[in-house]
Amino acid sequence: MKELSLHVLDIAQNSITADATLVEIEIVEDTKKDILTITVKDNGKGMSEDFLKKVRDPFTTTRTTRPVGMGISLFESAAKSTGGQLLISSALGVGTTVTAEFVHSHIDRQPIGNMADTFLTIINTKPEIDYVYTHKFNGAEFTVDTREIKNVLMEVDITTPDVLVWLKENIEQSLNDIMGGKQ
Ligand SMILES: Nc1ncnc2c1ncn2[C@@H]1O[C@H](COP(=O)(O)OP(=O)(O)O)[C@@H](O)[C@H]1O
Ligand SMILES: [Mg+2]
Repeated sequence: MKELSLHVLDIAQNSITADATLVEIEIVEDTKKDILTITVKDNGKGMSEDFLKKVRDPFTTTRTTRPVGMGISLFESAAKSTGGQLLISSALGVGTTVTAEFVHSHIDRQPIGNMADTFLTIINTKPEIDYVYTHKFNGAEFTVDTREIKNVLMEVDITTPDVLVWLKENIEQSLNDIMGGKQ
């Protein structure tokens, strides 16, 4: 995959498939420590210890549409190619947290890509559950939480085109603000 946002999409889709009701995405960029971390945390059905041991293997999948599951193994390769790593913690009935650590300045570190579009795509996959996206850049940060948006919208659907356009512009502006134009 060319962009990290596509990995985020895939990993968040795992959370949705695992029946999560809350999916929290956090991206932390620290250019002084030269670290980029991406965390996707869910409260879905989780994985057993045995399954967790083999989940990095591309031949481990519970999907029935194809014999290989690539999401986690590709995310791990992307992190490792920069000298980083992938961490997964999971407990049955509790949820799963996947964290990928990248060396920010590494030549093989894929660009983050379009997180505004990615977050909208994730919301559209299953709008009835909730999502939080936090992005930190050298100490500045912003968070968007669909629970807060839904409270304000009341009976208006979050997938209404006007709402999505507003949300996309809001995320793009916020990202620009925290990065001081260094996007
Ligand atoms: N967040 C998660 N919660 C529960 N199970 C998960 C989660 N993420 C991945 N899995 C399990 O790990 C398997 C492998 O995931 P992945 O590498 O993304 O491939 P795929 O989604 O194509 O199966 C999935 O089929 C699923 O059984
Ligand atoms: Mg997957």
